[in-house]
Amino acid sequence: MNRVLAEVADEVAGHIGEGRVANYIPALASVDPRQFGIAVALPDGTSYGVGDWLTPFSMQSISKLFTLSLALASDNSVWSRVGREPSGSAFNSLVQLEYENGLPRNPFINAGALVVTDHLAGHVGDAADAVLQFLRTESGNAVIEFDQAVVESEASHSQRNLALAHFLASYGNLHGDPHNIVDQYIRHCAIAISCRDLALAGLFLACHGALRDGSQGPSARQTKRINAVMLTCGTYDAAGEFAYRVGLPGKSGVGGGILAICPGRCSIAVWGPGLDERGNSVAGVAALDAFTTKTGWSVF
Ligand code: DON
Repeated sequence: MNRVLAEVADEVAGHIGEGRVANYIPALASVDPRQFGIAVALPDGTSYGVGDWLTPFSMQSISKLFTLSLALASDNSVWSRVGREPSGSAFNSLVQLEYENGLPRNPFINAGALVVTDHLAGHVGDAADAVLQFLRTESGNAVIEFDQAVVESEASHSQRNLALAHFLASYGNLHGDPHNIVDQYIRHCAIAISCRDLALAGLFLACHGALRDGSQGPSARQTKRINAVMLTCGTYDAAGEFAYRVGLPGKSGVGGGILAICPGRCSIAVWGPGLDERGNSVAGVAALDAFTTKTGWSVF
């Protein structure tokens, strides 16, 4: 595996530094774009990686995959509050929500993620603490933390997410206080995690919902469905192109990370801070493209 990963890193070397670092959250704008890491975790719990695979980065929207998984591990009722269709619009768009009466298209656009955070908060109290605890347990790394600088930076630029939360509340689709739910959402997005820990934390999605200690998280059926929604909606408006190039379900974040799942085989975490115009890591997508081409590991 290390040989395959080294070949992937060689192939994407030319893309490192390409794209633009997210700048609408000031703390992310200062990240050095010339970094790249990739890690693979296998069902036996071993992990492999090259490059900056042990450097923590801001997980941002990848956290939405974990709030959804934790919400579904409680019950399926979150699906009465959020849809499962690609949105075809920007991840932070407000317009679609009004046309569709406060029912977000899917759990990965910001409106949908706010509803899922609210739903999970109803079960566990603090959704961000629950996600952090899950990541620590599944990765075996007890020192994963919120990045306070990112929390504060995003909190002072959260007008759009607050607008979405208030809008959802006006349709009766947000039960908690909008400020409190946005706060929990910002905190789970601001978790700093390395490729290694992210690949290990996402491994249950490649293992039919089985957790590190052998217990069941989401059921096998729910896990299949989470992966399906990830394939169709996990990279926003670029999900078609991502499926075409990579052939795996994947969830991206504006910190430049992507978590991809090859069911039954492995989970893969990549990170490169430079983003394309639709908010996905340029080097990360190129690396996943090279990885699935070399290994033939794809859902297609
Ligand atoms: O709400 C936001 O804008 C960020 N916390 C997360 C956005 C994000 O990562 C979208 N991903 N591609």
